[in-house]
Amino acid sequence: MHTLPIAPDAPWLAPLAGYSDLPFRMLCRSFGAACAVTEMVSAKGLVYGGFGTTRLLNTAPGDGPLVVQIFGAEPDIFERAMPQLLEQGFTHFDLNAGCSVRKVNKSGSGSALMAKPALLLKIAEVMLRAAGPGRVGVKMRLGFAPGEENFLDLGKALEDLGAGWLTLHPRTARQLFGGAADWSRIGELVRAVDIPVLASGDLFSAEAAARCLAESGASGVMFARGALTDPMIFQRLRDILAGREPAPRSAEALAEAAALHIRLARELEGTPRALRALRAFLPRYAKGFSGIRAVRQALLECRTWEELEATAGSIAALYGTAAPLAQAELADLQDGCLA
Ligand SMILES: Cc1cc2nc3c(=O)[nH]c(=O)nc-3n(C[C@H](O)[C@H](O)[C@H](O)COP(=O)(O)O)c2cc1C
Repeated sequence: MHTLPIAPDAPWLAPLAGYSDLPFRMLCRSFGAACAVTEMVSAKGLVYGGFGTTRLLNTAPGDGPLVVQIFGAEPDIFERAMPQLLEQGFTHFDLNAGCSVRKVNKSGSGSALMAKPALLLKIAEVMLRAAGPGRVGVKMRLGFAPGEENFLDLGKALEDLGAGWLTLHPRTARQLFGGAADWSRIGELVRAVDIPVLASGDLFSAEAAARCLAESGASGVMFARGALTDPMIFQRLRDILAGREPAPRSAEALAEAAALHIRLARELEGTPRALRALRAFLPRYAKGFSGIRAVRQALLECRTWEELEATAGSIAALYGTAAPLAQAELADLQDGCLA
């Protein structure tokens, strides 16, 4: 049995390469994320001490429950990586079989594993043997290419191996982010297995997530691009499911979230890299607001934490008035990882 919060009103923060770092996870948790997944970590990087791997595993008290997502394609590398992670105190893991970014697929990792089901299962088995039954999930796509959808067979086989949960982003690997995520396919997986299924894909708003839950019968959802533009999306879903009216998306609330994000990044990381990352991150919260250009410009000019904090103080005015979020605007937030 898995021991993680998996329920419709317990939304997760999805793995987001370049974004689901410690400060952002803490921010999302403060707004109601029940569980969070790290950025994808390379199994090889863990074994050979790859550049940046240590930072990806940065965690702190309060950063739980936490799932470490791993990508790779060689079972023997996973054999060596898992004991390291367990020694560091991590308890739950996710196998990345969904990322379609070329660099990841070229090495046979990510969604390329959907084309090699025996290898995918072998790696999941290695992870489960090390972590224990129920402590590993797998994040899948429908299959590698249209007409090669094998998520149902894989889901059943993973359940037999002892996987604790499954996540489905219902597009094929070849589709990248094109077309719409077909939530009815999530429903097919829900009916095929007895372990929990988390839904991912086009969950741009709490309302969309509530619809996806109702249509698919999924056990829970994972917010990805939706959390990048609105870290309060978790609380909004909890409100909707509890029959409460969610708070409107206001410039003041987003400015407060930006200020909190800055404080968390400074306290928990405080590095020049963290500062640079924030300058790119914060304008995302302004998506759909008329003042987005001014926000981006003001943030880009910040060179120090003090400047960033001071700018955050005036951000509410810069955001301007809220326009409805356009689907197209949200959809182009797919840079980083075509997962
Ligand atoms: C910038 C970015 C980075 C991502 N990084 C990862 C990752 O490291 N591992 C993973 O499994 N999926 C990753 N994904 C995929 C998301 O977790 C999610 O499955 C996908 O975006 C579909 O959900 P959405 O349409 O609600 O955004 C990433 C997506 C984006 C946009």
